[in-house]
Amino acid sequence: MKNDYIKPRKYKCEIYRDSMQNYKKYGIPPAQLIIADVPYNVGNNFYGSNPVWYKNGDNKNGESEKAHKAAFNSDFNFNLYEYFHFCSKMMKKEDTGKPNRGRSSNSPCMIVFCSFEQLNTLINAAKKHGFNNYIPLVFIKNYSPQVLKANMRIVGATEYALCLYRNKLPKFRNGIQIDENGKNIRGTGQMVFNWFSWEQDDKSIPKIHPSQKPVALLKRLISIFTDEGDVVIDPCCGSGSTLRAAHELNRNAFGFEIDKTFYTRAKNEMLNFEGITNNTGIIGQTNIFDFIN
Ligand SMILES: C[S@@+](CC[C@H](N)C(=O)[O-])C[C@H]1O[C@@H](n2cnc3c(N)ncnc32)[C@H](O)[C@@H]1O
Repeated sequence: MKNDYIKPRKYKCEIYRDSMQNYKKYGIPPAQLIIADVPYNVGNNFYGSNPVWYKNGDNKNGESEKAHKAAFNSDFNFNLYEYFHFCSKMMKKEDTGKPNRGRSSNSPCMIVFCSFEQLNTLINAAKKHGFNNYIPLVFIKNYSPQVLKANMRIVGATEYALCLYRNKLPKFRNGIQIDENGKNIRGTGQMVFNWFSWEQDDKSIPKIHPSQKPVALLKRLISIFTDEGDVVIDPCCGSGSTLRAAHELNRNAFGFEIDKTFYTRAKNEMLNFEGITNNTGIIGQTNIFDFIN
């Protein structure tokens, strides 16, 4: 194991090329928010309904090299119980203090992106580890990858996630402002709906992973459930999108990725902060890493 220390910094951003199951080695602080997009275990049908299944997107041309293929080699046999075990150890403990009237607790939560079909399995597995409550989240796209047979059926244009928490509603930031007496200022703060627009990232964000989540969307979610300086963990971080989003918002970010290619590209492209401005307007001040190889 190599540890390339680059320089000391205010907010940490660390990616480990390792399984999340080895988390104990790294001394990561407990998270306010865990965001994960768990492997779908869809194995050899990742591109089902997608035109890339066929050569040049046309079934007259026969199947392409993507037919009957997984999106990535590690998309098999992901163990959900190990994932929730990780979360139960690495998520901050429940906030036992009494929150002020009209305010959320500081309790942590996790967001798990998943397919519609995985929702029930995830809810049941989460309960076995004490994550008894959930809020379903829906993401709405204005496009669909399922263009095959599109004139014969409704096509999918949504993504799903669950916000899972133990017992207390988690920390929640909706922009409400507080006056000098500690009271909520009327008219500030917005209702947050359980649906979000799925805005695709622009070219400033490298495209690295077949199931990469938009950094802008991740920033929106991180802003709702954490404050500056909080810890955000992505145990299956793929392209490093969550770490990039958390870092740009001055959160401490930690992630695991077992696939060498994704890890290397995340490190060199997504998390190369030279010239990137964070939300304090400072360029490259917090661009600091321990890379473990
Ligand atoms: C669905 S992808 C995540 C994509 C990511 N959310 C993004 O925006 O780029 C899941 C990733 O988890 C990785 N993975 C699978 N098992 C893992 C494990 N035990 N520990 C760490 N990473 C794992 C896979 O290699 C894959 O890249």
